[in-house]
Amino acid sequence: MEAIATPTLVGLEKEGYNVIPTANATFLTMNRKGIRQLAHETLGLPTSNYRFAATRAEFDAAIAAVGTPCVVKPIMSSSGHGQSVCKTPADADNSWRISQEGGRAGGGEVIVEGFVKFDYEITLLTVRHAGGTTFLNPVGHHQVDGDYRESWQAQPMSESALKQAQDIAKKITDALGGYGIFGVEMFVCGDQVLFSEVSPRPHDTGMVTMISQDLSEFALHARAVLGLPIPKVTFYGPSASKAIVVEGDTTMVEFENLDEVLSEPDVQIRLFGKPFIKGHRRMGVLLARDETVEKALAKVERAYAKLKIKVL
Ligand SMILES: Nc1ncnc2c1ncn2[C@@H]1O[C@H](COP(=O)(O)OP(=O)(O)OP(=O)(O)O)[C@@H](O)[C@H]1O
Ligand SMILES: [Mg+2]
Repeated sequence: MEAIATPTLVGLEKEGYNVIPTANATFLTMNRKGIRQLAHETLGLPTSNYRFAATRAEFDAAIAAVGTPCVVKPIMSSSGHGQSVCKTPADADNSWRISQEGGRAGGGEVIVEGFVKFDYEITLLTVRHAGGTTFLNPVGHHQVDGDYRESWQAQPMSESALKQAQDIAKKITDALGGYGIFGVEMFVCGDQVLFSEVSPRPHDTGMVTMISQDLSEFALHARAVLGLPIPKVTFYGPSASKAIVVEGDTTMVEFENLDEVLSEPDVQIRLFGKPFIKGHRRMGVLLARDETVEKALAKVERAYAKLKIKVL
């Protein structure tokens, strides 16, 4: 689902179909260019430095303009596909090659972004619903090769950083419009918050809300798109999630030792039932809740260590 014909959604909306959240939001967030230009050039939100490049010559010019280290991403890709860090100008060949081989909908135009040495990164889940806009507690996360591995809630933030993050999330989600949940990804450096990207739907790092809140990001999305009220979201306490990423080339994978995995209180597992693996694939998620974020993360790691994954 990396490449949806979003202009068709724009046409359907004109015919009266209800596209969630709006056809324009799906169109703008489908590729990195639309959303980055809206965020920075139209709304003036702070972002990393960036340039777009459609050819090798433009790419070299973009690397020179942004400087190294920088991050190279196909404008049509997600989950780290085709993405690389270009540490020095000598890495340019390699980064360009990776971007053009991007696998799932890689190749073509790229964005070159200045590498942000952030202290931490967050997803601010933001719900636009009939009663207004609700911000959930910030979700912190850790990514490996552009793919989320662990997330936690609530990420501790200074009052000023949280306020900036909420302002950014409000501006970008208002510009996209419609009802539903948005995952607004941001980098925090000291007291400065930079907008990175936004999903017009539930976010992978937000799976932690399946254990941290009475209404998960999915429940909130459903309520919002149905125009139902969301008078309150109850936060149950510090929580963590860990993606179960499996490598192999198979249609047969088994998860064992679940009695041990689930032996501690406030631990859950969700297995997605995906039919095959080629390379690496996120096959499920472990969830844990505890008194602090640190304890919740330690608990989810303990559960993960007990999980036996058999690739047949
Ligand atoms: N300019 C940057 N500076 C530093 N780190 C970055 C930068 N851009 C991306 N990253 C790192 O790579 C991760 C993935 O980047 P990004 O969210 O843009 O890609 P993605 O492929 O859309 O990923 P996903 O679909 O999983 O959200 C970020 O969460 C961050 O950890
Ligand atoms: Mg992302």
